Amino acid sequence: MPALVLLHAFPLDRSMWDRQVRTLADAASPIVAPSFPGFGRSELPSRQPSLDDYADAVVGVMDAARIDTAAIAGLSMGGYVAFALWRRHRKRVAALALCDTKAEGDTPEAAQNRHRLADTIREHGVEALLKAPPKWLRDGSPAWPALKELIRAQTKDAVAQASVAMAGRPDSTPDLATIDVPTAVIVGEADAITPLANSKTIADGIKGATLAVIPDAGHISNIEAPEAFDRAIRDWLRRIR
Ligand code: MLT
Repeated sequence: MPALVLLHAFPLDRSMWDRQVRTLADAASPIVAPSFPGFGRSELPSRQPSLDDYADAVVGVMDAARIDTAAIAGLSMGGYVAFALWRRHRKRVAALALCDTKAEGDTPEAAQNRHRLADTIREHGVEALLKAPPKWLRDGSPAWPALKELIRAQTKDAVAQASVAMAGRPDSTPDLATIDVPTAVIVGEADAITPLANSKTIADGIKGATLAVIPDAGHISNIEAPEAFDRAIRDWLRRIR
């Protein structure tokens, strides 16, 4: 059975994967879902981290768990970190699931907005994010109250650091053609943050990649449509030799 590493979205933590850690236990072992540095009340990096630093921290967790290679599934920011893992530690990557994410880097304007958001969060706390939240879920999603609490559980410094780290990430499009491990691209059909077109670019760029569109799900598709999401992950895990 392959080991599975689950990488979380912004501005959440490892607990967004609580269900998958339980339900996929018969398909992968061990399953590890680390919080990125500073999230989930872990120690805050003393200096501004990059997504490469997050990827290195994931490898540290794999080392501690004696996991040599693992299937890596990353959702949104977790997908950006999965690309960094591929660039920096590809020998540790047995397979990739790139969920509700994109390969493209930020435009200068988008990067500037992330810096501005970080400043706002440092000044007003994570509550500022909840005033006009990005469309993480479909309108009226029953998952919203729990997601809001998960966001409130993060420290403003960790969230601000992650926003700046995402602004500095490189374009991963040139890496797509280098990916030669079993890859699944998974996206909620109503993902408004990294819509289907972003996933199609990833799937078209990676030889043999499959594309699964999850019905009745927005951006955080593992939470909004867990059964269909788990099915897509199981199909992907079965492809790993
Ligand atoms: C995420 O869900 O991790 C973020 O929305 C990604 C992003 O802002 O690009």
